[in-house]
Amino acid sequence: TYERLWLIGSMVLIVGFIVTITYGTVGLGITMIGDEEDALSPDDINDDERFAEPGVEQVGEDEFEAHVVAMTFIFQPDPIEIPANNEVTFYVTSRDVIHSFTVVGTNTNTMVIPGEVSTMTVEFDEPGEYGVVCNEYCGSGHHDMEGELIVH
Ligand code: CUA
Repeated sequence: TYERLWLIGSMVLIVGFIVTITYGTVGLGITMIGDEEDALSPDDINDDERFAEPGVEQVGEDEFEAHVVAMTFIFQPDPIEIPANNEVTFYVTSRDVIHSFTVVGTNTNTMVIPGEVSTMTVEFDEPGEYGVVCNEYCGSGHHDMEGELIVH
């Protein structure tokens, strides 16, 4: 009957969505910190020294790590300053709701989820000032949520 077809059709769609979401999350390299019990709750961010004072540090000859916190409606640190022609791994988390960390005009773009850390390794060849914006609706200040990435 028609109803049965609808039911089956919508279940196929739902499964399809779940597969897409799972795949997308894995593809973006979003990882939980430790196991689920150790997941970083938004209240714990200040207890995690990497995020209590977010910033950029050199960890190898040509390697840097940048810890970034997104929150309504800013990014920390601001500006984020990184060197050109070096590998920089970004670790980004949120203090409150879902945001994104999107560097305008580049493919550096990830969803930022409270309790989780999104990681991304990039290398910028072009020194300059890049805008950082949020692509996930996060409240009344969403459209003004912006930061700056300076590549030296
Ligand atoms: Cu943060 Cu939209």
